[in-house]
Amino acid sequence: MVREIVRYGAQVLRQPCAPITQIDPSVKALVRDLFDSMKAAEGVGLAAPQLGVLRRVVVVDVSRQHPEILPVSLINPRIVSAEGREVGEEGCLSFPDLYGPVPRHSRVRVEALDINGKQFTIDAEGFFARALQHELDHLEGKLFVDYLSPLKRQLMRGRLKALKAEGEAWDAAHPQA
Ligand code: NI
Repeated sequence: MVREIVRYGAQVLRQPCAPITQIDPSVKALVRDLFDSMKAAEGVGLAAPQLGVLRRVVVVDVSRQHPEILPVSLINPRIVSAEGREVGEEGCLSFPDLYGPVPRHSRVRVEALDINGKQFTIDAEGFFARALQHELDHLEGKLFVDYLSPLKRQLMRGRLKALKAEGEAWDAAHPQA
């Protein structure tokens, strides 16, 4: 099911997420909703807090840029090793039409559980590695704008303020989140 993506400013985007202890039907439904919502928004990744759910689940789909890399869901993902550093332009579905340069590791190894609870490992580089790092940050309440220079943030100020109002409205409508 396609669900509303929470905008910048909502508190739910700033909180650490809880690990999944059991892959029950609610987790499987969450993974489906993440895929559906990411595709509807034409994104390359989406994390559970962006649907208002504080659990450690993300999806990444870089197949438009890299057809050989299949879409993937990751439960309780963690980076186990990382190398290199490169700066690249990033955006986020919680920040429509905003982009900025973010430093990331060039290569990462990520371990996670799949939808059946089986552990797997991904070795990623370049754009795929960037997308994974961006989505994993969401699980800690960290957002790509946190990496931008004060000048860049200043240039975005008007747009950030407008988004923040949307995020705060989401908070007000979802007091239990
Ligand atoms: Ni994002």
